[in-house]
Amino acid sequence: MSGLFFRTKFKPVKKNFGGIFFCSYDKMRVMEKKLKLLTYGCQMNVADSERMAGLLAKIGYSLTDDLDAADLILINTCCVRATAEDKVFGQIGRFKTLKRQKPSLILGVAGCMAQKEGANLIKRAPHIDFVLGTGQSSEVARVVQSLERERKHLVDVSNVSGSIPCEVFPLRGGQVSTFVPIMYGCNNFCTYCIVPYVRGRERSRQPEEIFAEVKQAVAEGFKEITLLGQNVNSYSGGMTFAELLTAVDKIAGVKRLRFMTSHPKDLSDELIAAIADGKNICEHIHLPVQYGSDKILKRMNRVYTVEKYLELVKKIRAAIPNVSLTTDLIVGFPGETDEDFSETLEFLRAVEFDAAFTFIYSKRSGTPAATFENQIDDEIKHRRLEELMKVQNEISLAKNRALIDSVVEVLVEGASKTDEKIFTGRTRSNKLILFAHGDEQAGELVNIKISQAQTWLLKGNLETGN
Ligand code: SAH
Ligand code: SF4
Ligand code: F3S
Repeated sequence: MSGLFFRTKFKPVKKNFGGIFFCSYDKMRVMEKKLKLLTYGCQMNVADSERMAGLLAKIGYSLTDDLDAADLILINTCCVRATAEDKVFGQIGRFKTLKRQKPSLILGVAGCMAQKEGANLIKRAPHIDFVLGTGQSSEVARVVQSLERERKHLVDVSNVSGSIPCEVFPLRGGQVSTFVPIMYGCNNFCTYCIVPYVRGRERSRQPEEIFAEVKQAVAEGFKEITLLGQNVNSYSGGMTFAELLTAVDKIAGVKRLRFMTSHPKDLSDELIAAIADGKNICEHIHLPVQYGSDKILKRMNRVYTVEKYLELVKKIRAAIPNVSLTTDLIVGFPGETDEDFSETLEFLRAVEFDAAFTFIYSKRSGTPAATFENQIDDEIKHRRLEELMKVQNEISLAKNRALIDSVVEVLVEGASKTDEKIFTGRTRSNKLILFAHGDEQAGELVNIKISQAQTWLLKGNLETGN
């Protein structure tokens, strides 16, 4: 997925998810089991968590933010970089005391790190009750029910290419934007990346299933849909990705449509045309380049050259005016020289991305690059990362400053965390914007005149006459 990594906090939702009701003379008391869900990693993990929460709701678990109240803690994990794993291990360690205090508590680990480590996780931390791989997430309710009956260690990482069944009703977080997975897995095997090993081979959902889920999300009140896949361009559910995108764009109530992630090797002319001609398809493409020198791109197995990428950017910009382009970059890949790095800086200046998510190469055992010679020194990696970010930040700031005084369409998300009088929203180009609000509501589209620009943020004012 993209470089947009975060830990999501699910808000408890006020619904009855099959909790058992007991009648007393004076009041009704709800006996519900509580689930604390912790999600690490990319948007695909967020979507998987929402599906697992949906399945657990069916057996009586409702979400809570309160760890002490939880009967079940489920950690959905990421292992794309060592730092992601360290965070999870830290978190698992912290739950040891909680389990000692409350022996009935069930602790489960799911997601990519669960798939990668399997039973090792329980060896390392025996207070974990179950480990569920990415292909087994649809089994979560069955596993939890079996642990409710009888306590033992359960590990199921048997089918990495298993898929999530269509009849699941995800318990979606947020209220304006949501994710709909269109495919799972990856066949690309970039030499640094663990994802194909922990997510299995590519498999696409059927279009009818996707349309039904989009309609369901719209009926729940969501205005913005993001179609998800590790590489959406290789969607193969009986139509091309461009056709799928165009069809979803026609679904009533979808105010905005996004997708991620696109691999530059197969972003088609047909897709570019679909975005250009689309009604509510946002003019934003997240197009991870990973590096800016042919030598390293080849060693990464990215199967395109710098020249090809630049041609693609030119084509996209010619067809989609005002398109915003974002990317992912890795510094410190084995064998990276000062010259390769300078080429990357030059490349960044040539493309002028709106934003870039920059990562330090992290050695993932089992991937080809982990055995490559000339692994780069930590100090050099950090220095290069800083330099790269400095160059990109200047570009992002200049691009954002150029937007001052223009009027943009913004999808209102709600009050900002720090100030109730300030609302946040997103432009079609996916830029975060803050503005003083009137009486508009989350989910509305408003016009905002941009007054200030920062590297990762815009500020503006409502245009009168909205
Ligand atoms: N399918 C998505 C990528 C998912 S991983 C895509 O191709 O865009 C998200 C990002 O993490 C990648 O784009 C890459 O920049 C970064 N990444 C993956 N493996 C990494 C590693 N071993 N070290 C550092 N960054 C890595
Ligand atoms: Fe990883 Fe490459 Fe697949 Fe993206 S395309 S998930 S970077 S192997
Ligand atoms: Fe996503 Fe991390 Fe897995 S990036 S696919 S949660 S390894």
